[in-house]
Parts: sequence; C-alpha cells; structure tokens
Amino acid sequence: MARGRPYIFYIFLFLSTLSIAVHAIEPVPEHGDVQFPLGGPDGGSSVDTHSDHQDEDGNDSQKYVDEAIKILKTIRPPSTQSKRKDTTSYYISTFLYYLQRTLDVLFIANVPTQEEPVGGDSRSAPVHMSKPLSDAVHLLSKAIPAKNPDALYLMAEMNFYGNWSHPRNSATAFGFYRELASLTGNSTAQNMVAFMYATGYGGIIQKDQSKALLYHTFAALGGNTRSEMTLAYRYHAGISTPRNCEEAAFFYKRVADKAIDYYRSGPPGGYYLPRNNHRIVDELGGTYGAGASFGHTGRVAKRSSEQSSLSIMDDIIEYLLLLSNKGELSATQQLAKLYYDGPRGLSRDLRKARDLYFQLAKKMWTKDGKEIKDPSDIVIDVASKAAGYLGRMYLRGEAVPQDYALARRWFARGLKYADTISQHGMAYLYENGLAGLDKNMDKATKLYKTSAEEDYGPAQVAIGKIFYNRGEYGVANKWFELATRHGEVEAYYYLAEINNQGNGRERSCGMATLYFKHVSEKVEALQAPLEWAHRAYKNGVRESAVLGFMMAAEQGYESGQSNVAFLLDEQKSRFPLDWWRLRRNDGVEQELALMYWTRSAKQQNIDSYVKMGDYYLAGVGTEPDTEKAAACYIAASEFQQSAQALWNLGWMHENGIGVEQDYHLAKRYYDQALETNTEAYLPVFLSLLKLRARSFWNTISGGKINAIGSDPEPRKRVTVSEWMKRWFSDEKPQYTHNKPGEVPEADEHGAGQDGGDKSQHGDPGNDYYGEEGGEDEFVENMLILGTMLALAVLVFVRNQRQQRQQRQQGQQGPNGQAQGHGARAGGAGNAAPGFDPRNPAFGVPPPAGL
Ligand SMILES: *[C@@H]1O[C@H](CO)[C@@H](O)[C@H](O)[C@H]1NC(C)=O
Ligand SMILES: *[C@@H]1O[C@H](CO)[C@@H](O)[C@H](O)[C@H]1NC(C)=O
Ligand SMILES: *[C@@H]1O[C@H](CO)[C@@H](O)[C@H](O)[C@H]1NC(C)=O
Repeated sequence: MARGRPYIFYIFLFLSTLSIAVHAIEPVPEHGDVQFPLGGPDGGSSVDTHSDHQDEDGNDSQKYVDEAIKILKTIRPPSTQSKRKDTTSYYISTFLYYLQRTLDVLFIANVPTQEEPVGGDSRSAPVHMSKPLSDAVHLLSKAIPAKNPDALYLMAEMNFYGNWSHPRNSATAFGFYRELASLTGNSTAQNMVAFMYATGYGGIIQKDQSKALLYHTFAALGGNTRSEMTLAYRYHAGISTPRNCEEAAFFYKRVADKAIDYYRSGPPGGYYLPRNNHRIVDELGGTYGAGASFGHTGRVAKRSSEQSSLSIMDDIIEYLLLLSNKGELSATQQLAKLYYDGPRGLSRDLRKARDLYFQLAKKMWTKDGKEIKDPSDIVIDVASKAAGYLGRMYLRGEAVPQDYALARRWFARGLKYADTISQHGMAYLYENGLAGLDKNMDKATKLYKTSAEEDYGPAQVAIGKIFYNRGEYGVANKWFELATRHGEVEAYYYLAEINNQGNGRERSCGMATLYFKHVSEKVEALQAPLEWAHRAYKNGVRESAVLGFMMAAEQGYESGQSNVAFLLDEQKSRFPLDWWRLRRNDGVEQELALMYWTRSAKQQNIDSYVKMGDYYLAGVGTEPDTEKAAACYIAASEFQQSAQALWNLGWMHENGIGVEQDYHLAKRYYDQALETNTEAYLPVFLSLLKLRARSFWNTISGGKINAIGSDPEPRKRVTVSEWMKRWFSDEKPQYTHNKPGEVPEADEHGAGQDGGDKSQHGDPGNDYYGEEGGEDEFVENMLILGTMLALAVLVFVRNQRQQRQQRQQGQQGPNGQAQGHGARAGGAGNAAPGFDPRNPAFGVPPPAGL
C-alpha cells in the first residue's frame, strides 16, 4: 500500500487538473443535452432549475427538504410479496412480459419501433404519483434552485432507482447527480455519474469509458466503496486502462479493509454474511439448459453438490422433518444445522434452529442442569453438538439475548464431550476474559488448537491469527489455507496480507489481489446491490434486476456479469419470433450483453465463452466474426471441456466457418463432445453420419478437404498424379487456427486473461493425427457403408444425367447447386470443388466398384 500512494497522488494531481479543465469546457449548470422534465405535481411542468436569481436562501431550502423528508418517511414501501417458488414466478413474469409485448404489437397501432434502452425512462407510462409523494417532490423542487445538496440527492435517487414508486427518469437523475457531483464533490453522486458513463445506462449519454474512469477515480479517492471496487476491478482485468496489479491490489485492499472492519464489528465471530453472489442460470440448469451447459454438467458442478441440491432443498427439508418427527435424532440435528447455516435455497431461520437444538439438548440435560444417566452414544453425539451451537447462539446473541454466562455454561457441557464448537467458544471466552473467566492465553491457545485440528474453521482462523501475530507466518499460512475451505473470510484476508506484504515469503501482488478481491466480494452488505437485484428478479421487476446486476457487474462480480448478460440476452434466445425483430434499438442491449459475457468469460465462466462465440458467429451486438467465434469456442473447450463448445467447433470445422474446413478435425470435436457429455449422443451421431457422408463425397469428388482418417473409402478413381499431389499437400495439416486461445476483446484493452500463451492451443492437430478412429462400432460401420452406397448410387445417377444434359445442351455445365448439403455456408475458401466440370476428378466415371 505504501507503494501505491505516490502513484495515486500523481494520478490525483493529474485528474484534478483534468477535471478543472473538463468543467471549464463543459459548464455543468448548462445542461444543454440533458433535460429536466421534473415530473412535478402539476403534470411535469419543467421547473427552471438554473435560474440565476437565488431569491431563496439556504435556510429556506433546507426547510423544504426537511419537510419533504418528513413526508417521504410516511410513505410505506410498496408491499413486495416475495414469492416462494422462484422459477415459477420467473416463468410467469416472463410470460406476462411477452404477453404484454404481443398485445402491444398486435393491438396498438402506434407500435414503438424503438425498444427502450436499458434503464430507459418509463416515458410511456403516465406520470402517476401518490399524493404524499407528489407533495414531497413539489417541496424538493422548490429547494432545487438553491442547489440544496440533499434535495438534489433525493431527487436524483428517486428518478434513478424509483424509490417511493417515483417514476424513473434516467436523464433527470443524471442531471441531478452530475450537478451534485460538481457542486459538492459528493462521492456517491460521482459514482453514479461514472456508472452511467461506463454503461450508457438510460440511453441518454454515450458510453465513455475514460470519463467513467475519471469519475470513478474521484469517487474512489473520496472513499466511495463501489468506485474503489470498480477501479480495482478495472485495473485487475485491464478494462479501459492498462492492467496494473499494484493499483488493483491498492484499491481492493481499501475495500477489503472496510469489509473486515465491518465483519469484525459484528457479534463475537463476526457478522453472518449472507450470500447472494450466485448466478440465476444455475437455477435454470445453466446458460444452455441442463446438459449442455458447462456450469451444470462440467467438473465444477460435479465437485460441488451445492448446485444439484439447490433444486431439491425443499424435498430435503421435508424428508428431514419427517424423520425428525419420527424421533430420528440425527435428522433433527441436520435440520437444525441447515436452519442455522441457511445454505443457498433456504433462508436462515435461527428460531427454528434454536428450538431444535434445545429439543436435542433436552435429551441429555434435565431442567435443573443434571445429566441423564447412561446416555446412548447417539444422544451424546447430538446433544453435545447442540450444546456447542446453543453456546454459540448465546455468545453471539442469535435468536436469544446475548449472555456470556449462559454461553459459558453450554460450552462447558459440550466441552466435556470434546465438541469442537464448544472448544472454540470456551477458548474465545478465555482469550477475552469473558463470563467471569480470567484471561488465559495458554488455555485459549490449547483449546483453539484442539478444535482447529478437528477441522473447525473459526478455530483454524483463531490459531492462524495467534501464529500470525507472533510472526510465524509459515504456520499461520497453513492454518489460514485450511480455514479457506470453510469459507472463512478472515482467513482470506490474512492470506491476502501475507501475500501483499511478502511476510515470510516472496511478495505476490497477483495472489494478494485475488484474495483481496474475494474478501471484498464476500462482504456483500458493504456495497453490493446483489441482494436487492435478486429480490427484484424474483418479484419480476426486470428493470431493477438489470440495474442491480449491472452495478454488481461493474464492480467485478462475475455472477453480476453473467446475470446481467443473461437478462439482456434471454428475450432473444427464448422467443426468436419474427415480430420481435420489429425493435430497432436492439443493438444497445446486445452490445451490453456481449460486453458482460466477455467480462464474465474472462473470469473463467466457460458457458460465457460459448455465448461470446455465439454472438460473434451470429453477429449479435457486433460485426459477425467467425474467426473470433472459433477462438471463443476453442478457449471454452480447451480450458475445461464444454460439450456445447466442442460440438460448435465440430460444426465449424465441418463447414469451414471461421476455421479451415477439415473433416478429420470435425470428427474429433464431435467425438470429444460426446465424451464430455454422453447426453449428446443423438446429435453427435447424426452429425457424424452427415460428416462421413460429406467427407466421403469430398474424397470421391476430389475435394481438398482433409478427410476423416478412419474412412475406408478408396481414392483410386482419381488420377494418380492428382492423387500424389493431394497426398503431399495434405501431408502437413494446415490448421490456421487464428491464433487459438486468443480470445477476442469486446470493449476492453489488454489481452484475455488466460488466452495467448497457452502453448497447448498452438496446434491441436498434432495429437489428433496420430489417432485413427478405431472405436467405430459394427453397426455404425454398416450404417455408414449403407449411406455411402446410397450416395454412390446417387452420384452415379446424377453424373449420368448430367453427362446426358451436357451432351444435349452443349457447353452448359451443371453447377454447384448440386451440393445437396444444406449446411454449407458460402465463402468457405477450400470448399469441395464438387461439380466443377474442369476438375479432372469430376470427369471420370463414378466408382464402379462400390
Ligand atoms: C439562517 O439564516 C439566518 C439569517 O438569514 C442565519 O443567521 C442563520 O445562521 C441561518 N441558519 C442556518 C442553519 O443556516
Ligand atoms: C452525498 O450527499 C447526500 C445528500 O446531501 C448525503 O446524504 C450523502 O451522505 C453524501 N455522500 C457523501 C459520501 O458525502
Ligand atoms: C433508493 O433505492 C435504492 C435501491 O433500493 C437504495 O440503494 C437507495 O439508498 C435509495 N435511496 C434513498 C434516498 O433512499
């Protein structure tokens, strides 16, 4: 951090100068481009916000604002009945959305040909405000001319987020934010202005990454956490600025410091950290649906049972309840733990957990604190664990009032049976001298150690901290690394510090940045709009969901990036109806979607790589670029296997799109797709069949495309010299793989995080060549043989007819429409010459032997 400072200082100096210059050129009060349609009570009469006459002094305006705030406080938030079944509500909201769209298109004569840009204003909706809200707005707008910061701020927020059900108007919001930013240097306002420049949100300003960077830098130096995170991520990933690990670490550390301070300010053991950092698509089976998506079938999913258990959480609870009611103690225990931890898919319920733990503890301890006689092993096990949890709840004041004495009593009970939570809890009491105990570091350390050795995360952190403070970084490091497996945020923080300062090891800026990033993202309560966004999504408020995820995405959350891309993308992929294409302004959303797919892909989301490829292939949100598409698919299939990417690659090689046409490689890719995901059997089988047919046709018609190695077809009908020539030119595989692994950029500078220098991408052909497809089954061979025979007959008949026609019509030769393979895309450079009559191979009679 000491290394970052002088740098920052210079940047600050530079930016200050720049800012002065910018403001000189662009006098802020003169919002030439931004209008202020103040949706006032009298129907949107524009209030002149920039009158020179300041007849109201600051005293008065503050009075208005206070009055307005008083009114606003009376407005209750709109009841958001959160629906339990997420997916159902998702489908319903989607359905309603499209129904409305359909009706719009069908019945409204004046179809808006322009789709509202992301964050567009609710222009079409009549300005409709409740009485108190319009009163408040009226009061606030009186305070605006005096440039009251609070009034500006409130008006901006209302127009931006739609607080208190105020209609959204991004243009107005932008104007107020910018004014506030330049008046007071308010970092919240600077952050919002930066956000709007970065994303073009609202469609009122052009995306301008350098202005975004400028405003973010100001806001970050003013201490705005969101901007600090955004800047850190931009330096980390090299977005609109060169990559700079030192800067990234510097800003991430600032956030992580705040995050840890917040965490520690909670009850003993830190705040409970709710997790909303997950992808929507996980609940829907992955970006490409169950089966095809890497996220669903890939190794990641296999490793964590979390995703698979997600959809069946309700069933699990139900089942455990059943067993628990039957008196199955371990089921009760599991249930209690689920309620206590609140894993994904289940909201935390401390009261239920508490009741269940008391229930379990009662099996062992009577009301007057005596142990029952001869408890069974299972009772000892569950009751001692329950004691640990109850002690922890008293220690932290969870669902019970905080009470160290009671905590100590429960810990003592658990301690007797070597319960790890009790050991840790007792150690904590010793360490801090609580509950009437004298401070005793030796006892604390010993207990922590026992608990940590039993793999209890918080104890591992505690013991790690003890070693860290003694300067024994090696041992500390070991414990912290163990604790990260339990997701202990403090462990990540200390690892970051060790790497950042190079404690007892070589300093590693990269590792430090990654750990700091993790800490920053884990403490969501600090700054992340994720919880809000997920709630909006569940309630079907697409607008807010997109906004929230987009903010998270800007801050570097991978889940935010893929979520916003998914939301912007879904309407296309789900309903590719023609009337849908009436919309003109699609490009904006698609461009944004591609941008976020790209960023998400660079954070190792394999499905996003495939999505990127799709966008480049189809030219969605960008110019079509088949080579980039191929590079994306290759990246997706090389880092980790994605069946979808492999199949796409097979298809591209088969058709020579974006890559050199090559049947042999195509077959390899199809086979690999099948290996990756056996569910892909049918499509792969059909593709292979077609491929073999084409390969065969290519061979007998003298095409230059690299044929499938294992194909047994004879090549003899080609003249010997031709054949020799082809043999030699085919000897070297010509894989011009467009620099594979180099992933195209959407909008950012700097190379793809992982692209470029992975040498194994260099020439995938090499190892493919060695292998002959010896795995072909008998049936498959027979089918292929049959297909080939049929083809041969067709060729023969066709040639006969064509020759007849030629004889009849003189010179007019038949041409390429005869190819018969619909999938051929034009422009494939070395496509099968097929029916070119000048080709000597064509002139020869069809193979008689077949
Ligand atoms: C309000 O204005 C009066 C004079 O006009 C001034 O004396 C007083 O300090 C002001 N109060 C505030 C809170 O600004
Ligand atoms: C920005 O201004 C608003 C309104 O005056 C205020 O509530 C907020 O705390 C300010 N933010 C910062 C970071 O100063
Ligand atoms: C408006 O709503 C957003 C999103 O819920 C929230 O973050 C923001 O603090 C709210 N603003 C005000 C002034 O209440």
